[in-house]
Amino acid sequence: MRVILLGPPGAGKGTQAGLLAGSVSAAHVASGDLFRKHLGEGTELGKLAKQYMDHGELVPDDVTIKMVLERIGAPDAAEGYVLDGFPRTIEQAKALDAALAGQAQEIDLTPLIEVETEELVRRLTGRWICRACQTPYHEFSAPPATPGVCDACDRELYQRDDDKPEVVRARLETYERQTAPLVAYYERQGKLVRVDGEQAIERVTADLRAALR
Ligand code: AP5
Repeated sequence: MRVILLGPPGAGKGTQAGLLAGSVSAAHVASGDLFRKHLGEGTELGKLAKQYMDHGELVPDDVTIKMVLERIGAPDAAEGYVLDGFPRTIEQAKALDAALAGQAQEIDLTPLIEVETEELVRRLTGRWICRACQTPYHEFSAPPATPGVCDACDRELYQRDDDKPEVVRARLETYERQTAPLVAYYERQGKLVRVDGEQAIERVTADLRAALR
């Protein structure tokens, strides 16, 4: 199974990709997590990505495409993957299609998780993430059992630098300008399904599972 979760920042892509990938033995491949890993390790790619992430802009296509194509070539992605945050431009989508076509493969489905802007801002500004396993929480709608501690692995939770209100606004504008055109791109391929992302997390998961079946 090869799936792309589409949707604006805060729609719940990371939350749902983690749940889906865990239940169907697919790899969860999140471009933002890959950049943050590089950032944490102090690599040149991490330093480059930070310049864009801090302003809510997209990291250039060439380095992003190379990083993600390498990741989906790893052994744990051989049986399939759930992509979260990639592709984000038409150029990235075309590069992915071309790479898959070269292996007689294609994307199976691209669910679009739809959420209104006001709710996106509420979610991002209240989000906490596990430093170790990246599980996202929300201070009101999805709190951990113990404040500041991950339910899954007992490690510390933190807030992302780019979840500050001014950067969140820039990320939402970037989404509309550069990523929203992917909706028409995958609609033309007959792969787009729309899912109401404003329901409870379990309801969204159930709708995604139904779409995948
Ligand atoms: P990235 O890390 O991909 O961030 P994003 O797309 O902006 O998405 P988020 O992780 O913010 O939101 P999400 O949809 O995953 O929501 P989540 O599940 O966490 O990218 C960061 C940056 O990296 C980009 O700005 C860019 O600079 C760079 N980058 C990454 N990919 C790139 C690419 N392909 N090309 C170029 N640059 C790239 O949920 C959010 C919150 O809501 C959580 O608190 C969660 O608990 C809560 N929540 C989730 N679902 C629900 C629900 N149903 N009800 C209530 N609360 C919910």
